[in-house]
Amino acid sequence: MEDRSLGGGRISVPVVGLGTWQRLEAAAAAGRHRELIGTAVTAGIRLFDTSPMYGDAERLLADALDGRRDEVFIADKIWTPSAQEGAAQLARAVDWYGGRVDLMQIHNLVSWPAHLPMLQAARDRRQVGLIGATHYSQAAFGELAELMRSGQIDAVQVPYNPAQREVERIILPLAGDLGLGVLLMRPFGEGDLTRRPPGQVELEPLRPFGVTTWGQALIKWGLSDPRAHVSLAATAHPAGSRRTPRPDHRPGSARTSAPTWNAWPPRTDQPGRPPGPAQRRPRGTRRFHHKAYEFRRMPAHGCACRSRTAQHAGEAALARA
Ligand SMILES: NC(=O)c1ccc[n+]([C@@H]2O[C@H](COP(=O)([O-])OP(=O)(O)OC[C@H]3O[C@@H](n4cnc5c(N)ncnc54)[C@H](OP(=O)(O)O)[C@@H]3O)[C@@H](O)[C@H]2O)c1
Repeated sequence: MEDRSLGGGRISVPVVGLGTWQRLEAAAAAGRHRELIGTAVTAGIRLFDTSPMYGDAERLLADALDGRRDEVFIADKIWTPSAQEGAAQLARAVDWYGGRVDLMQIHNLVSWPAHLPMLQAARDRRQVGLIGATHYSQAAFGELAELMRSGQIDAVQVPYNPAQREVERIILPLAGDLGLGVLLMRPFGEGDLTRRPPGQVELEPLRPFGVTTWGQALIKWGLSDPRAHVSLAATAHPAGSRRTPRPDHRPGSARTSAPTWNAWPPRTDQPGRPPGPAQRRPRGTRRFHHKAYEFRRMPAHGCACRSRTAQHAGEAALARA
C-alpha cells in the first residue's frame, strides 16, 4: 500500500482508509465487526475514520482493534454544538484509543470556533496528533476555506468522486497551496457508483496499473489527484462475505491491496508538476482510448481533457443506473 504525507509532511498514512458510517454497526449486527477491521488492517488499510455521529462506531472500532491500536491511524471527530460536550467527546475518544487520537476533526464544522482551542490544547498535551475539519456539502465550502486559510487546521475531509467534484474549484487548490492534508469521503458516492459497475472488458485498459475492479478504479480516481492523501471507503463486508458474487473490490478484501497504488500515472494537469518517471506509461502498455481509462485523466484547472468528461466511466455508470 502506498503511503502519503498528511498535514505538512509530518505523518505518513496509507492512501486507503476505512470509513465507519453506518457500515461498522451493520457489520457488528452480523457479528463481523472484528473480522472487518482485522481484515482491513491485514490488507494494509491502517487508517479508520469515525465519529460520535456514527452511533456505536467509535466503541466498536476500539473493541475490534484489540491489541492492534499502535498499528493504525485513527481519524475521529467532535460533533456537537456544546464546548463542554466536545471536551467530553474528546475524553471518551482518548480513552478508547489508547491515550491519543491521531487526527481529530470537527465534524461538518459544527461550532468550530468553540472546539478549536480545546483541540489545540489537547494537541499540546499530545492527546491529539493533527486537527482537521470536515464537511459533506458544497454549501459549506466557503466557511471551510475560511478555516483553512486561518492556519488553525492541518487537514480537511471532503467528498470527491466522479459524480461529486465541487472540491476541484476551491478546496483542493487551497489545500495544495497551504500544504494541508486531504481525506476524501464517499469515493463510491455512498454506494450509488457501485450499483452498476462496468464489466471486465471495459476495465481491461486499467489492468496494467493493477486495477481489476470498479471499486479499485473509483478509489484510484480520487487518489490520482496528488493533492489528495487518503480515500475513505466504507463497507460492512469483510472479504468474501457477500451472498451474491460481486467484483471483489471492497476495502478489507485481499484484492484491494493488490493494485500498486503508486503505479497509477499521476495526473498531468497539476500546475508546476512536471512529469516524473512514475508518470510515464509503463513499458509494454498501450495508449488507452477506452472510456474506462479516460476518467483517470480527471479534468481540473482547465485541463485539456475536460471535453472528454462525458466519457467518464463514472458518469457512464451513472447514466446506465
Ligand atoms: N461529514 C463527514 O465528515 C462525512 C460524511 C460522509 C462520509 N464520511 C466518511 O467517509 C466514509 C465513506 O463515505 P460513505 O460511507 O458515505 O460512502 P462510500 O464509501 O462512498 O460508499 C459506501 C457504500 O458503498 C457500498 N460498497 C462498498 N463496497 C462495495 C462493493 N464492493 N459493492 C457494492 N457496494 C459497495 C457500501 O455498502 P456495503 O456495506 O454493502 O459494502 C456502502 O453502502 C464514511 O464511512 C465516513 O467515515 C464523513
